[in-house]
Amino acid sequence: MTHNARPYWPYPQLIAHRGAGLHAPENTLSAMRFGVAQGFKMIEFDVKLSRDAVPILLHDDDLERTSNGSGRAADYSLAELQHFDFGSWLDKKFAGEPILSLATLSRFAQQHTIACNIEIKPTTGDEVVTGALVAKAAAQLWQHSACLPLLSSFSETALAAAKLAAPHLPRGLLFEGPVPSDWAQRAQALGCLSLNLDNQYVTQELVQAMHQAGYAVTVWTVNDAQRLAELRTWQVEGIFTDQVIDFAEL
Ligand code: G3P
Ligand code: MG
Repeated sequence: MTHNARPYWPYPQLIAHRGAGLHAPENTLSAMRFGVAQGFKMIEFDVKLSRDAVPILLHDDDLERTSNGSGRAADYSLAELQHFDFGSWLDKKFAGEPILSLATLSRFAQQHTIACNIEIKPTTGDEVVTGALVAKAAAQLWQHSACLPLLSSFSETALAAAKLAAPHLPRGLLFEGPVPSDWAQRAQALGCLSLNLDNQYVTQELVQAMHQAGYAVTVWTVNDAQRLAELRTWQVEGIFTDQVIDFAEL
């Protein structure tokens, strides 16, 4: 079956990657505030579970790169993680920046009417429980919102668990590297709204094929203005960027 209409995409086109990419500590409230202050109406962030199964914002399994903690975040409770500094690694002016929970983020996003892409980023080995609990938490936190968050993941196992836990929340399947030839079957099995593609591997033919199949296409992470313009001529639905200052006016 082919679709001539535009794929369904109830979100803005430009998405602030990890809140504000490079300008504030990624995945913290400072980053979200920074992206929003530049005029962004949608934010992407990475979510995994603390030891006590609280959804928290963090990209890596380990704490070293983006905090003064060490070891796996999944080995600490939320209360323990709250003792670490998630800001100084980027700049002293962010000293004392706390870990951000999904619950706090959801209040901020709804207060400011900001759309969200929750990237489910399970600690290695925790795919099923993370997909299920993050989706369940998101369904509850956004239950009164007119703009439901898009759940995405590189982990098809996590997305399948999310679908089971909160079937009504929209889903996007992330690919890193070349797009597998069976993308349509994978997206269909997970009931996806979008395919979220690695910028290097996106061609106009691929975008057209995905549109024909009825999927929205989003591209990560685009920091070059010429590439942004090209992707726009191809009518991709979503573009993730770290360039929240330079791209704000584009
Ligand atoms: O969701 C898009 C993008 O964030 C995926 O890659 O590693 O930045 O989480 P990463
Ligand atoms: Mg991400």
